[in-house]
This record gives sequence, C-alpha cells and structure tokens, in this order.
Amino acid sequence: MILSPSLLSADFGNLEQALKDLENSGLSWVHWDVMDGLFVPNITFGQHVIKMLRPKSKLFFDVHLMIEKPERYLEDFKKAGADMLVIHAEATNHIQRTLAEIRRLGMRAGLALNPATPLNVCEYVLDDTDMILLMSVNPGFGGQSFIPATYEKIHTLRKMLGSRKCHIQIDGGVTPENTKELCKAGADVLVSGSAFFAYPPFDVRHRAFQKEAI
Ligand code: DX5
Ligand code: ZN
Repeated sequence: MILSPSLLSADFGNLEQALKDLENSGLSWVHWDVMDGLFVPNITFGQHVIKMLRPKSKLFFDVHLMIEKPERYLEDFKKAGADMLVIHAEATNHIQRTLAEIRRLGMRAGLALNPATPLNVCEYVLDDTDMILLMSVNPGFGGQSFIPATYEKIHTLRKMLGSRKCHIQIDGGVTPENTKELCKAGADVLVSGSAFFAYPPFDVRHRAFQKEAI
C-alpha cells in the first residue's frame, strides 16, 4: 500500500517543512489538491506553488486536479514538476484525449470519479490510465466522513481492471481504521489529509496506516 498524504491538511504557510517532514518519515508520495472554486466550492493552490516547491522535495508529486477543463493546464503542471496528474471525469468532455496528452507529456495519467459517478465512464480508457482515483467523499474539503458505498465500487473496479497494472487510489475520510477493508477490497494507494496531519509525528502515523495494510 502506498500512502499519499494530502497537503490540504498541512500548514499552507510552511509547505516546505511539511514536504521535508514527510520525506524524513519514510513516505514516497505526496498528494496535492488543486481546487479552482468552480469544479469544487473551494480554492487552494496552483501550478506556481507546486513549481516553487518542486526543487525542495524528491517525493513523487501526485497532483489531483479538481478544476474545470483540466486540459487547459497540462503543460503547466508538467513544467511545475507533477509526476502523476489526475483529472476528474466530470470536468472534461474529452477524457481519453486528456489522459493521452498527460502521458505524451511524460507524466503518469490518473482519472478521478466522484462518489456518484458510475464506473462505466472509465471502461474504455482503462488502458490509457495509470491510476483510477475513487472519491470516497464529495471533493472540496478535508475532514469529511467516508462514504461506505466506496467498498463495492473498489471491488468492482478491481475486477474490471483484470491483470492491468493500474493503481486504485481512494481519497476522502481514509483513516487507519478503514485501511484494512480498503486494501482488502482492492485499493493500493490511499490518500489521507486530516487523519494523517492531525496526529504527528509522521513516521509513527505512517506506521499506523501501514500496520493495517494487507
Ligand atoms: C478532498 C480532497 C482530499 C482531502 C482528503 O476534496 O481531494 O484529498 O484532502 O482529506 P481527508 O483525508 O481529511 O478526508
Ligand atoms: Zn485529493
């Protein structure tokens, strides 16, 4: 299991320190929640902030775009240093083209689905995708409760993926308490914001999640 802590719950005034602390705690991924105030009712940071912090960290930058028409900014996020760029299926009319363009630019391509979005939107783009992100809360804010219907969705998606090497990432309300069941259902990348950052030190917290992983 890969744990990808969401900086949404970190101190925005000291992201450099947060990145250092994560790296020193044995983590390899970090999750950036980019919000535009349109696709979701909240605004965070964009490509410029990520670009400034890129030289300060060796972590794998997992960038979750909660923005309308993400195809407008793919090159910007490549230049900013994103390793994985995740777009929302609900935010573009051109899912396949956008995923293919992300890969062409040299990044891993991820596709995110809101809780109510059926899995069939990704059925014909499974070979264009390195990771499917299943939202287990409605995107926009940290600290919300996990939606239990996600378990069945993970299970069905894992079957759909067959032998493909595609990650299933779960984002929203993830805690050490539901980690085991999420892994059992077929998830292999877990995002955690509030349940991770609220309980430092991070190396102890990281172990608390990994202990539950199967
Ligand atoms: C929600 C974001 C999540 C969020 C998760 O819109 O995409 O990444 O930070 O936060 P928690 O773990 O607090 O639900
Ligand atoms: Zn996210």
